[in-house]
Amino acid sequence: MTLPPAASLHHGAESFYQHWQQLNDWLVQHSEFWQPAPFMTPEPAWARRYPELAAMLAELTDGECQQLDGSPVELAARVAPWLPSLARYYADMVQLPEQLLAPEKASEATLPEIRATDMPGRKRLQSGAFTAALIPLEHPALDWCCGKGHLSRTLAPFCPGEIQGFEWNPELVRDGNRLAQQFGDPVSIRCQDVMRADLSLPSRHHGVALHACGDLHRQLLKRGSEAGLPRLSVSPCCYHLTEMEHYRPLSQRAANYQKALQPSRNDLRLAVQETVTAPARVREQTRLVSQWRLGFDGLQRQVRGRDEYLPVPSNPPRLLNEGFPDFCRWAAAKKQLRLPDTVDFDHWQAFGEQRLAEVRRHELVRHLFRRPLELWMVLDYALFLEEQGYRVRLGHFCDRSLTPRNLLLDAVRVSGTQPVQHNHP
Ligand SMILES: C[S@@+](CC[C@H](N)C(=O)[O-])C[C@H]1O[C@@H](n2cnc3c(N)ncnc32)[C@H](O)[C@@H]1O
Repeated sequence: MTLPPAASLHHGAESFYQHWQQLNDWLVQHSEFWQPAPFMTPEPAWARRYPELAAMLAELTDGECQQLDGSPVELAARVAPWLPSLARYYADMVQLPEQLLAPEKASEATLPEIRATDMPGRKRLQSGAFTAALIPLEHPALDWCCGKGHLSRTLAPFCPGEIQGFEWNPELVRDGNRLAQQFGDPVSIRCQDVMRADLSLPSRHHGVALHACGDLHRQLLKRGSEAGLPRLSVSPCCYHLTEMEHYRPLSQRAANYQKALQPSRNDLRLAVQETVTAPARVREQTRLVSQWRLGFDGLQRQVRGRDEYLPVPSNPPRLLNEGFPDFCRWAAAKKQLRLPDTVDFDHWQAFGEQRLAEVRRHELVRHLFRRPLELWMVLDYALFLEEQGYRVRLGHFCDRSLTPRNLLLDAVRVSGTQPVQHNHP
């Protein structure tokens, strides 16, 4: 694989494709490192192939592990002796083409707290940063999957004309319209399922979507470009929420690439597997449940005599107060598994703790592929929009600590261009 230096990655129309292709080939080439989920695979093949890498990871303290997880470029340097392409290309591969952060405009664009009724603190700041990255706005906005219209109300002072919101949950529609009325914002939210085939879009609107999940944001890219909307601005999330069992790229160039990756829905989860913004209490609960699940996994493998992961559904929160033995009994009942009368629960609980420490270390390697996989998705969106006659910018709209889903695609329709014809499923 030959990669050009970073500076040449994003010049001109070819650049999104070049970048996408590099990521694609790299992800395909290294799939053994990121496709198996360490939670389900006690000893991934790479750990046997690179025992010194596994040993280096095993020696990390919990603190080092956490610190490296938040510093992918530093982590890439630590893993590079075994995976040399990381040293050569990693920083270039995860670099974004544009600088869209506009911190100097963000405080002016953020709704003051007194007007932010019902709006969680992070959502207020995210909406402000998103708006700051887009102003000036030249068209009335269409806020796609707008919830209570927090983004709509933030955009309103900068937007010529009334903002139209689409949201399918009637309670959110009602609350959102009530808030807009209360604060005198020119925002009107309509109860609308955006996936309906007969949906018609208002013309000459600027389509915006902040964290509309998977197929929902892809629907805006498809339907919005088909309708020739003058601008589309999308911050994607939850790529794995899709009808497709195996993901197919949107753009023709990516879809026609012979060696294109075909990630499963489950593979795509990796792109959003981050908890940087979860409160400490939630992180602690997640840690405990993960330990118990891994403890039960060890136990069930022994009881069934099969070295195979057994998926267990989400547990009711009350189980957290009832202890590990009750968790195992509940999980066994869910899977119609009879546990022996003499299970050494202390042993399996300690086993789960030890497995979680190992999983965290193995996941470090996997997490190196998280941003590349996300960019692989979003660069394809950018290519698709270019094919549809848009000039596209791709960058961050806010710091990762505010939300790890901080990518923004901002596409302006170039007049006089004809979109490529697509037959979407
Ligand atoms: C993650 S929330 C984002 C909300 C809002 N954009 C924000 O940032 O506050 C996704 C929203 O999409 C809505 N939604 C889900 N499926 C939908 C559909 N088919 N049509 C319209 N809205 C939908 C949900 O009810 C939810 O309010």
